Amino acid sequence: MLSAACKPERANRSLAGRLRRETADAHHRLETRLDLLCRPVDRQRFVHVLHRFLGFHTVWECAVRRHAGLRAFTDARTRLPHLRRDLVALGCDPAELDQLPLCLAAGELAACEASALGSIYVMEGSTLGGQLIGRALTEVDWLPDGGLAYFNPYGRETGAMWRAFHAFADARLPAQAHGAAVAGARRTFEVLEAWVP
Ligand code: HEM
Repeated sequence: MLSAACKPERANRSLAGRLRRETADAHHRLETRLDLLCRPVDRQRFVHVLHRFLGFHTVWECAVRRHAGLRAFTDARTRLPHLRRDLVALGCDPAELDQLPLCLAAGELAACEASALGSIYVMEGSTLGGQLIGRALTEVDWLPDGGLAYFNPYGRETGAMWRAFHAFADARLPAQAHGAAVAGARRTFEVLEAWVP
């Protein structure tokens, strides 16, 4: 029998576990569609993918920050500056970046706070796979000085930032909202799969 003090920890683990288990198929599909690790890693392919993520983040970050309880957390993790910096370093004209198409479907992912947190789970998780992408990029001759930051925004702090995300999500989401978070995460993978390739 668990003591009362153990129960919250078990509930916490179950949110991370549910998110991982119940989105694993969607992650696999997106990873396969993006095909970012195919050799040789192609510069034009990366420019395209970063363009699309810029169109996604521009709408999505704005929608997520409408939730007052998430704002301070997500403002500290904005990836828009990384996307702009990477694209300019890859030779894109900053003025053209403002004209890129926007992913309007990204706004609905933050329809409620639980859905937004599920969606944040997906985008924060991309920094984990980003470690592999970063390693593949070290082999290319077109990598700008300082590398590409979007997929690896936290460097050595990646693990700590990931654990901090889960602690934050656990603290904000009651167990009855976990299903909505999983639905938001799954929908985020679907929106990205339709938008990025
Ligand atoms: C070539 C592309 C990708 C590869 C190779 C890849 C690979 C991986 C790997 C190896 C992990 C596990 C890392 C670990 O346990 O330390 C991971 C985790 C994760 N990735 Fe990806 N990934 C890719 C793209 C993406 C993208 C584009 C997203 C979302 C936008 C994403 C979302 C996630 C999430 C949410 C997790 C956390 C899973 C968990 O709960 O443990 N990944 N990825």
